[in-house]
Amino acid sequence: MTVTKGLEGIVAASSSISSIIDGVLTYRGYNIDDLAENAGFEEVAYLLWYGKLPNARELADLKRQLSDNAPLPEMVMQILRSTPRDANAMAVLRTAVSALALTDPEANDMSEAANFRKAIRLQAKLPTIVAAFARLREGNEPVAPKDGATIAHNFLYMLTGKEPERIAVEAFDKALVLHADHELNASTFAARVTVATLSDIYSGVVSAIAALKGPLHGGANEAVMAMLEEIGSEQEVEAYIRKKMDNREKIMGFGHRVYKNGDPRAKHLQKMSRELGKITGNMKWYNMSVHIEELVTGTKGLKPNVDFYSASVYTSLGIPKDLFTPIFAISRVSGWTAHILEQYADNRLIRPRAEYVGPSHQKYIPLDRRA
Ligand code: COA
Repeated sequence: MTVTKGLEGIVAASSSISSIIDGVLTYRGYNIDDLAENAGFEEVAYLLWYGKLPNARELADLKRQLSDNAPLPEMVMQILRSTPRDANAMAVLRTAVSALALTDPEANDMSEAANFRKAIRLQAKLPTIVAAFARLREGNEPVAPKDGATIAHNFLYMLTGKEPERIAVEAFDKALVLHADHELNASTFAARVTVATLSDIYSGVVSAIAALKGPLHGGANEAVMAMLEEIGSEQEVEAYIRKKMDNREKIMGFGHRVYKNGDPRAKHLQKMSRELGKITGNMKWYNMSVHIEELVTGTKGLKPNVDFYSASVYTSLGIPKDLFTPIFAISRVSGWTAHILEQYADNRLIRPRAEYVGPSHQKYIPLDRRA
């Protein structure tokens, strides 16, 4: 048996949803750079689910369904109301999505049509959950989703209770596009493993949220902001980062299992971070980030990943850092559900092997004779 720790380099599924080939990321064959510059998030979600870009009517129809499905069932709202204010936002999202299944009459309908409808419901409701929890913990009433608004617009509106600026909506929408799918990343793999037992789509998404929560995956964007705040100012960057590197500690937002020459999404987020910094008149986080990048890339050759500049982008949009990973989930649920649908369409149980390295030939000792 050859063990490949972390399954590095193992090809565990065939997929036609997204690809990373020679450092280039595509969704359904469309280069991420092209989509980031031109497509809206709903168009991208349609592309991931249906395998083609929508025409105007198909896009309008999807937007209508997403808008109609954005409100939360009363039971889920009650759970959010009774959640401790200091609860971990990803744990809240995981719990609320699990509860959504209890109120969906189609939860256990495994037909393809029902699963597509559930994918749309999940995509529609995740932003509402995150925004409602963010308001409730501040002692504010949740804001009802705005009929007909895009997911980016609606999320910022529900979070703040105010009409968001056009530039904020555009930046947020682009961030959603950039995070929507990423081949067989850890959370997507977790979702596929779960549904490959023919468990339901909600269970698959709950597994994915649980995997995304960790700091080596989606949790890195929050960890980047925590690091920027801990450093505090540009003058402190060099000493802080050099100390971390000397201690061989990981610097969050750098490195990647697949990209060794840079994450193609990072440049878009860097550009957004710079532009938003200029607009808000606060370039501090951007300047600190650039300085960190110079040091880490210059010394270790490690390049920033998608999480590094997301941190300063979301902070410039006024979003608290513990919502960064839930926002990642708001976008990635499009990819997770596309992968779940793909898994169901050609399913086989995912069940690898482990090399046993524990003791052998042990003899059972009765309880009263054990030391
Ligand atoms: N800071 C410092 N060193 C890093 C590093 C980082 N962010 N990422 C990787 N390295 C180093 C490791 O220490 C290791 O060095 P060594 O061979 O001298 O021990 C080498 O690079 C390989 O790293 P490894 O952790 O084995 O790579 P991986 O493929 O298992 O992990 C990540 C990939 C993404 C988990 C890893 O780069 C990481 O932890 N990054 C920080 C968290 C993060 O930003 N995650 C979001 C990913 S999108």
